[in-house]
This record gives sequence, C-alpha cells and structure tokens, in this order.
Amino acid sequence: MAPRRILLATAVTALVLAGAAYAQPRSGVVRPPDEARLPLRELGSQLYAGNCSACHGIDGSGQRVPRRTTEGIEGQGPSLRGVGARSVDFYLRTGYMPISEPEEQPTRRRPLFNEREIRALVDYVSSLPPPGPPIPQPHPERGNLAEGYELFVEHCAGCHQATAQGGVTTGARVPPLEDASAVQIAQSVRIGPYLMPKFSERQISDEELDSIIAYAELVSKRPPDEGGWGIGNLGPVPEGMVTWWLGAVVLVLVCVLIGRRLRA
Ligand code: HEC
Ligand code: HEC
Repeated sequence: MAPRRILLATAVTALVLAGAAYAQPRSGVVRPPDEARLPLRELGSQLYAGNCSACHGIDGSGQRVPRRTTEGIEGQGPSLRGVGARSVDFYLRTGYMPISEPEEQPTRRRPLFNEREIRALVDYVSSLPPPGPPIPQPHPERGNLAEGYELFVEHCAGCHQATAQGGVTTGARVPPLEDASAVQIAQSVRIGPYLMPKFSERQISDEELDSIIAYAELVSKRPPDEGGWGIGNLGPVPEGMVTWWLGAVVLVLVCVLIGRRLRA
C-alpha cells in the first residue's frame, strides 16, 4: 500500500506544482510593489535595476562579458549611455526589450510595460550622461510619395521588399512595416535596430525621411475593405482573380443554358 500512497502523493504534488507554475504571471517583468506612489525617475530607476541591468550593466554602460551570479549567468548587452529617448522609447514601445537571451533577435510584441512604466524607463535611461537624441517628430504629410518610393527602393527594399512586407536576410528576420507608426519608422531608420543599418542625416535627410514614411505607410497598411467580397484582404491580385473566376463561372453557365436551348 505504501508505495501506492507515495505515488499518489507525488502525483498530487506534481499537479499542485504545475498549477502553481501555471498561475504565475507570464510577463516575466519585475515591478516595485509601491509602483503608484513612486516618482517617475525613481520608478524608472527601479524598473531598470530589476529588468535591464543584468544585461546593460548597473550604470547603463553595458555588459560585454557574461557574469556568474547567484541567479545564474547574466547576459550581455550594449551600453545605453547616449542612445537617448529615441532608442529607449522605440525598443520599449515595439516590445523589442526586454529579451530573455542576449543572442535573441528582438521582435515586435505587446509591450510588457504600461504607459507610465515606459515613460519612467525612458526618463531614467536618457537621464544617464551623456545626453542622447530625443524622440523624433516626423511629418509624413509633408512627404512626396514618388520620392519616397525611389528612396525606399534604394535604401530599404533590399531587405523589406518594395511592398514593405518583410522577409529574411542573412542572420535576421525582416519584419513587415504594417505595425510600425510614423515615429517608429523614423526611429528605426536613425537607430538601425539589430542587423538593420542606421542612416545618418547625410545619407537620408529629415525631409527625405518624411517621404519614405509617407510611402511605407501607404503600401504597408492593410487596405480597408472596399465593398465586394471580403476575402481577407489578400491584395489586389487575388481579389481581381476572384472577379475573373466568378466571370468564368457565369460564362460557362450561360454557355450551358444556350446549349440546352439550342438542343431543345
Ligand atoms: C540590411 C537589411 C535592412 C535594411 C537595408 C533596412 N532594414 Fe529595416 N529592419 C531590418 C531588420 C532585420 C529589422 C528587425 C530589427 C530587430 O528585430 O531588432 C528591421 C526593422 C525595421 C523597422 C521596425 C519594424 C517593426 O515593426 O518591428 C522599421 C520601421 C524599419 N526596419 C524600416 C526600415 C526603413 C524605412 C529602411 C530604409 C531606409 C530599412 N528599414 C532598411 C533590416 C533592414
Ligand atoms: C538578456 C539581455 C537583455 C535584457 C534583459 C535587456 N536588454 Fe536591451 N539589449 C540587449 C541586446 C543584446 C541588445 C542589442 C540588440 C539590438 O542590437 O537590437 C539590446 C539593445 C537595447 C537597446 C538599443 C540600444 C541602442 O544602441 O540603441 C535599448 C534602448 C535597450 N536594449 C533597452 C533595454 C531596456 C530598457 C531593458 C529593460 C526593460 C532591456 N534593454 C533589457 C540585451 C538585453
């Protein structure tokens, strides 16, 4: 009897443990308990210490060599000194940061931090000297679409495709641009996240960047359903093909009907 009881007890314990693990919040982000009462800068400093310092260093100057701690091996990350609000805001609002492994390609996902936490982290990290660039304020409405198309083909389409659908390049997945806001396009062009090259104002001026954003927004945003049959917005080609296909079916039907009449 005893072994059976042990077995049963083990099974129950395993179930309880599994349940407990499941009930853990999945976000994986550490928050100070008195978050709401903390001033912005202090909240940013604590969120940084709990979620970023293991890879970017206690003082933000980066950590090139993995370090063994009681928590295991802590990762590597570049220095955040001087990257400015431009970069911190981009990496947090796209959900790119934090990553769990230093080699991991940052990918877009729902941000793990709420609005106030993002502002706090941006404020804290960009307060570390030296001062860095602010969040850009692009004006795509002033852009020129034809120029934007040419510049996009020249500088971006090699990786992102002329239609901004993304794909793969050596060593990286290239994301589609449909979820990127105008500000995020401007940020990414200047920052060059992960394997993307960064473009200086000499290579692409702010005016040219406005045109690029205007073009990218036009081609990448999902088109609204313009009447007709919603076939999941597969694009102009398949939608056109449905029309042709329907046309063909109607033609065949007409032929069959005429054929019957003639025979009758
Ligand atoms: C050498 C290939 C390459 C070129 C050239 C390139 N990109 Fe990228 N781009 C990438 C990769 C790879 C990423 C993903 C970065 C990451 O995961 O951290 C990216 C990310 C982005 C993002 C963020 C999208 C998101 O939602 O995550 C935007 C916006 C963007 N690129 C715009 C541009 C524009 C505009 C140009 C041209 C001026 C350009 N890129 C040129 C490879 C490239
Ligand atoms: C597991 C390690 C790791 C953790 C944790 C982590 N990062 Fe990173 N971070 C990296 C690596 C690696 C890169 C370089 C990736 C790239 O080039 O896109 C990076 C890049 C960045 C950049 C871009 C720097 C630049 O040069 O423009 C910012 C900003 C950033 N991280 C902010 C944060 C913040 C804020 C947190 C905490 C919420 C955080 N990271 C947590 C490893 C980490």
